[in-house]
Amino acid sequence: MSLPKRIGVLISGRGSNMATLARAFGPDNPQAQVVTVLADNAAAQGLTLARDLGVPHVHACEYGQYASKALFEQALIDHLQQQNIDLVCLAGYMRLLSRDFCAQFAGKMLNIHPSLLPLYKGLDTHQRALAAGDTRAGCTVHYVTPQLDSGDIVAQASVPIVAGDTEATLAQRVLRMEHVLYPQAVRAALVNIA
Ligand code: GRF
Repeated sequence: MSLPKRIGVLISGRGSNMATLARAFGPDNPQAQVVTVLADNAAAQGLTLARDLGVPHVHACEYGQYASKALFEQALIDHLQQQNIDLVCLAGYMRLLSRDFCAQFAGKMLNIHPSLLPLYKGLDTHQRALAAGDTRAGCTVHYVTPQLDSGDIVAQASVPIVAGDTEATLAQRVLRMEHVLYPQAVRAALVNIA
């Protein structure tokens, strides 16, 4: 049997999706394991969570400490390559990645987005779904390309929008679904990774 695939997760903040992946793909998982969590800022709450969960390699590459975006991204690439990462998962990673970075991990990098793509790319997805009078919202896991929230879709799941919903109540309902969807989508994507 082949060795477990090695997953690296990039975060910028809270890290609840990262934690879901780290639990689903822990050290005993024969298919894949989260071995690296990288943040673009040292204050990301998810860093502590990742350490508490026992992720082996947890590190912040503080964006502001690099002279250019290219050098910052090279530092991320160096960490990911040192850890022999097979699949990169963006989980609340809030920085646009360059064409070069995307090319480096083409077909091997996923993102989770809190909308039913292609609807509502970018920010404020829940607010926009409510303002449009939609009856359903949801989340999408897709491959990452240089175009924002536009790569091929791996999996998508919807939840109802109910009377009285606010941005906060809807975000909470969608987030619970994100935590179900992301591990499923990772399992599906891993099948295509040699
Ligand atoms: C999630 O809603 C995710 O879809 C979006 O950013 C949020 C991150 O939340 N990309 P968390 O950091 O995973 O808790």
